[in-house]
Amino acid sequence: MEFVDTHAHLTDEAYNEDLIETLERAKSVGVTKIITMGDTVENSAASLRLAEEYSGIFAAVGVHPETAAEWDKNSAEKLYELAKSEKVVGIGEIGLDYYWEKDEEKKELQRKIFIEQLRLAKELNLPVCVHDRDAHGDTLKILKTEGKGVLGVCHCFSGSYEMAAELFKMDFYIGVDGPLTFKNAAKLPEILAKSPKDRVLLETDSPYLSPAPMRGKRNEPANIPHIAAKLAEIWNASVEEVAEITTGNAKRLYQKTA
Ligand code: NI
Repeated sequence: MEFVDTHAHLTDEAYNEDLIETLERAKSVGVTKIITMGDTVENSAASLRLAEEYSGIFAAVGVHPETAAEWDKNSAEKLYELAKSEKVVGIGEIGLDYYWEKDEEKKELQRKIFIEQLRLAKELNLPVCVHDRDAHGDTLKILKTEGKGVLGVCHCFSGSYEMAAELFKMDFYIGVDGPLTFKNAAKLPEILAKSPKDRVLLETDSPYLSPAPMRGKRNEPANIPHIAAKLAEIWNASVEEVAEITTGNAKRLYQKTA
């Protein structure tokens, strides 16, 4: 069995003490590949350094909406340079976060840098990893217009089935992580039951969002099988089948991991 954790933050200080053991634990349960996300230009460079050091780690580079204020006139150029590496498999994580940001001017800045990074992805022919929190309408609108032709995933999907269906029409994927295993997972199990299986990616968002048995503790890529088990239950499939399908999906979207 082989899994890809398509969204983690391995540069987080939570792994300062035991990154090697964390990677070994992941490998021991079949998580052979991990994509670590950038959230600032500096952190994107650090993510790439980590990917260059470990064969099973790949990087995405990008500026997260929560750090939009750090964007300057050189950011796009710097990300472009980093993205030329063989180990950079996508642009992420990028997007909109209206949960943490209520200021209209700052939301406008988030939209501006989201659009700039979508252009970058198009130019580099790389997929995007999209963060959308409480910003479903604007995210979809921007992906359909400025992002037209770019492929990607809405990570930690929290929208409606109608939104998911719109994304599938655009050949987008949805990413599922720990919250699927929570008792208050709301509509997500229902949405996944109806979603085409070839559009779903597994991810942990480590060190955040630990799945049910570990909820509240530090998350890590080795927890992917807990999410896979829940998805297997929803799909009425075996965990092996879920591994095969989602790993195939991950390699189809993030081609440089294949
Ligand atoms: Ni994340």
